[in-house]
Amino acid sequence: VNVRFLGLDVEYREVRDAALARVQDVLDGQAFVLGEQTRELEKSIALAVGVPHALACSSGSDALALALMALGIGAGDAVIVPSFTFFATAGSVARLGARPAMADVDPTTHTMTAAQLAATVEREFDREARGRWVHRHSGAELRAAIVVHLYGRAAPMRELAASADELGIHLIEDAAQAIGARTDSGAAGSVGKAGCLSFYPTKNLGGAGDGGMVTTRDADVAKRLARLRVHGAAPGGYQHEEIGINGRMGELQAAYLNAKLPRLQAWTELRKTAADGYRRELKDLEAAGLCLPPAPAVDGSHVYHQFVVRIPRRRDSVAERLRADGIDCRVFYPLPLHLQPCFASLGYHRGSLPASERAAGEVLALPIGVHMGDSQIQAVCAALRRALAP
Ligand SMILES: Cc1ncc(COP(=O)(O)O)c(C=O)c1O
Repeated sequence: VNVRFLGLDVEYREVRDAALARVQDVLDGQAFVLGEQTRELEKSIALAVGVPHALACSSGSDALALALMALGIGAGDAVIVPSFTFFATAGSVARLGARPAMADVDPTTHTMTAAQLAATVEREFDREARGRWVHRHSGAELRAAIVVHLYGRAAPMRELAASADELGIHLIEDAAQAIGARTDSGAAGSVGKAGCLSFYPTKNLGGAGDGGMVTTRDADVAKRLARLRVHGAAPGGYQHEEIGINGRMGELQAAYLNAKLPRLQAWTELRKTAADGYRRELKDLEAAGLCLPPAPAVDGSHVYHQFVVRIPRRRDSVAERLRADGIDCRVFYPLPLHLQPCFASLGYHRGSLPASERAAGEVLALPIGVHMGDSQIQAVCAALRRALAP
């Protein structure tokens, strides 16, 4: 049996008629950016996340950059980010001329906790008399931290928000992989100063290309976001108080996402069912060295964008055997960000953030999604059993 990593075509078949009708409306209307479809999507996402404001934009990466820009973060500032995440989390900071300060992650949940946030501050920052935290070597001022709900698992927001408050910095949620997840303090994307979503095609709510959204409870931040995504132009279009980016979402994109959104909850349930199946079938392999992801704290706090196991010492050979057996599997992510060549000037080295480095060498994502029925789960588990056999 072959088990595919993704089943986007299965999602598409469920929404095809609705999607085509909406796409046809857009084409008939010939209004292609920031129109009716985008406004509808913004309304629906704001409602789903439980915030008054949601601003659609060009991608999850741009959502992060726009959120940082809306908080006035740029050159001379520092932002704490976990090292073990997708590149965009730190890339968005660096691309604005700010300094990413890398935090380690919890070794089992792979999310940053308040303890790791505090350890990063302790390691890299000094408190000035006026209460600002200043980077010891560069002089950059600590302005924010970005927490990532990695793989769809909600990070511990209550303690993180309390720590950020105490430090006097903003907390931004990178919820690119976690649409619909419930944190201990509200929906993912509703707790921090801003939440950033991605609609990259493979995400739990995947578009037909790139797209993103920033969610916020703050009306001033929302107003600034709306300006920043159109080059900083004031309403009317040609007066610029500040410099933004071209961060618009296209109407065809919003149309496809509007067609898919009503199915998201059911699709998330299927992901959870698949995850339960994996846990049941793989439990006894823990004795053979397989580490299952810890069970979510409460129902709904993990939306399983990925189901990621850890295989100490022999991850790559096990992955190869799985692939030879027809099971597609992936490594997210093989190199932590503090060791990326482009961040060499930040001065980290191997050994700086041990939990992130270890995770990068051990994680393996198994296929998950709406295409995974019982027989696919069984096939993956049987192959994994063979691959782990001595
Ligand atoms: C954790 C995380 N942050 C940010 C992004 C960036 O989103 P996008 O690809 O839509 O730019 C992604 C997804 O690719 C992601 O997984």
